[in-house]
Amino acid sequence: MNIFLDTASLEEIREFADLIDGVTTNPTLVAREGRPFRELVAEICRLVRGPVSAEVTALDVEGMVAQARDLAKIADNVVIKIPMGRAGVRAVRKLSAEGIATNVTLVFSPVQALWAAKAGATYVSPFVGRIDDRAGDGMEIVAQILRIYENYRYDTQLIVASIRHVRHVVEAALLGAPIATMPYKVVRELFDHPLTDLGIERFLSDWKGVPQG
Ligand code: E4P
Repeated sequence: MNIFLDTASLEEIREFADLIDGVTTNPTLVAREGRPFRELVAEICRLVRGPVSAEVTALDVEGMVAQARDLAKIADNVVIKIPMGRAGVRAVRKLSAEGIATNVTLVFSPVQALWAAKAGATYVSPFVGRIDDRAGDGMEIVAQILRIYENYRYDTQLIVASIRHVRHVVEAALLGAPIATMPYKVVRELFDHPLTDLGIERFLSDWKGVPQG
């Protein structure tokens, strides 16, 4: 499973740039950084070899396409995040015909993901955490999308998004999701276990009793 970092923080990206497979941003994450959008995306694209999603803010087809074409010029690894909806699906159709990579975002149902794939989206991002927040079952939606994509052999790759905790990552991997994007805190936690720390501590203290020579 590919692991993407869901952040626009250069500091967080630098820490894991050698290990992660890509980055996703969104307008909220970009706003936290207080830097011009294009400049920030360009810097992220230099740090990361994999795909970097940058989101359009226009709501009409022509506006989305214009912003997408402009963002796509920043670097070869830019992926254009397009919000789901009728305008979004139409914009994705145009962009995929031009060979511009897209990530359909704010997906909450399997039929939305079906439209994204039919339009030729490169990626689709169901938001599992936000579904769970409203007492839904985000991973059930992921399982349904994966099944639909397999049924019709769509090439669109699913990114499990809005991940809140390590359990979401485990569930995504068990379902065979190709990609999961997660906050810095969750990426860090994927490496940790208290028994690993205790084990290292114990080995090192026992090692002190080994005669050196
Ligand atoms: C995905 O691409 C989004 O940026 C992100 O996962 C949204 O997560 P949130 O629901 O924690 O804001």
